[in-house]
Amino acid sequence: MKNLKGKTALITGGNSGIGYAAAKQLKENGAQVIITGRRKEAVEKATTELDVTGFIADQSSLADIEALATAVAGHFGNIDILLVNEGVTKFSLIEHMPEAVFDEVMNINFKGAYFTLSKFIPILNENASVILLSSTGAHISPAQAAVYGASKAALNAVMKIAALELSGRKIRVNAVSPGPVATEIMGKIGLSQSLEEHMISTIPLSRFGKAEEVAKLIAFLSSDEASFITGSEYLIDGGQCI
Ligand SMILES: NC(=O)c1ccc[n+]([C@@H]2O[C@H](COP(=O)([O-])OP(=O)(O)OC[C@H]3O[C@@H](n4cnc5c(N)ncnc54)[C@H](OP(=O)(O)O)[C@@H]3O)[C@@H](O)[C@H]2O)c1
Repeated sequence: MKNLKGKTALITGGNSGIGYAAAKQLKENGAQVIITGRRKEAVEKATTELDVTGFIADQSSLADIEALATAVAGHFGNIDILLVNEGVTKFSLIEHMPEAVFDEVMNINFKGAYFTLSKFIPILNENASVILLSSTGAHISPAQAAVYGASKAALNAVMKIAALELSGRKIRVNAVSPGPVATEIMGKIGLSQSLEEHMISTIPLSRFGKAEEVAKLIAFLSSDEASFITGSEYLIDGGQCI
């Protein structure tokens, strides 16, 4: 299905996991795709595999975000799809949360996502689709995930207000909130077998999601088929939030 033909998409954090799967899906659906990430080798590997364009940028750095927006505008002009996907997960009891970890999570997941949206607003085309990668962590309350959950809940609040602010330009803004999905993020949090079994026990469909399943929802929200959908959050979680 080439329903994204003629559209240009920017995906932050597109070198692995959900961002990578979304880049593949949007490209297959006809979009011109640009991905970002901090790790040069990972970005280069992904751009080669997917045949897309890559930029190295740290979304927690305002200078990098501004340079990225300038570079994207210079190379591609305005864009039609903005997927703010970058994110990290760090767990700690509230009592023991180090300030540096608090800042890292909030600077990437919330401040970085917020300013990515902010600095790309001027180069969004009319009828563009913005998708913020949130999480069921904003709704369920897993122990040790207070900062991660707060970062995503904050993003959901921004999503609704952005939908209002951008409605005059017919730009749609939505959030996609996966439950646990088998991506590299699981290795990064040091997922043990017992934690995996515990997480699966919280999911009525009794399995982790796949990045490709999330990518299909992203592709739908990116397309004109979702033309009356804005200001909404979409759970894709195997029933975890029931
Ligand atoms: N997997 C899940 O279970 C799950 C569930 C709910 C929500 N999510 C959300 O889904 C999004 C994608 O996660 P994932 O599971 O696909 O994880 P992943 O495989 O670890 O991918 C994360 C991506 O974000 C990039 N990234 C991280 N920090 C960045 C920064 N400061 N600047 C630019 N890029 C950055 C990483 O690239 P570099 O390291 O090269 O920068 C990577 O491409 C995140 O927002 C996450 O919170 C995931």
